[in-house]
Amino acid sequence: MPSVVIATAYGGPEVLSVIDEPAGQAGPGEARIEVRAAGVNPIDYKIYSGAYGSDPAKLPIRIGFEASGVVTAAGPGAAGPAGPVLVGDEVIVYRTSGGYASELVVPGQALVPKPAALDWAQAAGLMLTGVTAWHALVASGVGDGDTVLVHGGAGGVGIMAVQLAVARGATVLATASPARHDFLRELGAIPVAYGAGLADRVRQAAPQGIDVALDLVGTDEAVDVSLELAADRTRIVTIAAFARAGSAGIKAIGGGPGADPGTEIRDAARLELARLAGDGKLRVFVTQTFPLAEAAAAHRAIITGHTTGKIALIP
Ligand SMILES: NC(=O)c1ccc[n+]([C@@H]2O[C@H](COP(=O)([O-])OP(=O)(O)OC[C@H]3O[C@@H](n4cnc5c(N)ncnc54)[C@H](OP(=O)(O)O)[C@@H]3O)[C@@H](O)[C@H]2O)c1
Repeated sequence: MPSVVIATAYGGPEVLSVIDEPAGQAGPGEARIEVRAAGVNPIDYKIYSGAYGSDPAKLPIRIGFEASGVVTAAGPGAAGPAGPVLVGDEVIVYRTSGGYASELVVPGQALVPKPAALDWAQAAGLMLTGVTAWHALVASGVGDGDTVLVHGGAGGVGIMAVQLAVARGATVLATASPARHDFLRELGAIPVAYGAGLADRVRQAAPQGIDVALDLVGTDEAVDVSLELAADRTRIVTIAAFARAGSAGIKAIGGGPGADPGTEIRDAARLELARLAGDGKLRVFVTQTFPLAEAAAAHRAIITGHTTGKIALIP
């Protein structure tokens, strides 16, 4: 019987349960997927933590926005952005709700062919962080010759943003704790330690000045240093500091209050991200995997806010 991870209450990872539930038939335009891996993101625990409300009517909550797997059934007319969806196709599922499952039924439009160069866990972890980073770069207009400050460069979104900005010809400075600095250098970034004195360290590392600042962490420090160093506030983007964005006059993107969801930009980015990853030009770093049944342990890890790259769940 297929397994599904649900939150049965609002709270910490202890509210997660694994239940047996059939995925059902693939209807017109839909496909059934045998899931090989599910990507883990901070939003996955935030939605049952109470951070976005605690309406009992919404329980139980299914978890997970991205996965990878094999098409086991295709309903009439099932097609994705790359064309018809066929049984046996190896696919990335994004965006879905309830990706923490061994089987899924999803609209064909949520399916992108899996690049052969990625394993299942990497494929499951490419899209949510990839489209977010892509949107941040579009919103801030990152291009050749820009100097870009990325706050949180070694996180899930940060690693994508660093690689995409370097590929666009930007000079990239990225903040992380010192243990991650060699890794950031490998990605082509100039690492800078976050914490007291950050603005001065950035000035020293980039005497030419900062054109773009991407806050991928949401701390006051990241917002304050961005405001101090980047003169053009329309080129400061946050994906997490929604409460401060309006009064600071900077751009907020994604699903937070007052933020630009950028749905079209993000949807359109999926094929390009898959192409870049397939060509080896965009790497996905999966640093931890857990069995699907141990989703709570994966959440205890990501809640720390100090994991590097991506975590995947394996059914
Ligand atoms: N708006 C959107 O569309 C959108 C989309 C995706 C994610 N998000 C949100 O964006 C945030 C980041 O997501 P993610 O997937 O990248 O998370 P993540 O992978 O959990 O980020 C962890 C990274 O954050 C770094 N970090 C922790 N504290 C920091 C600080 N004070 N200054 C600088 N870096 C720090 C850590 O570096 P060290 O280990 O070196 O400390 C680690 O590399 C989350 O709040 C998430 O919910 C928003």
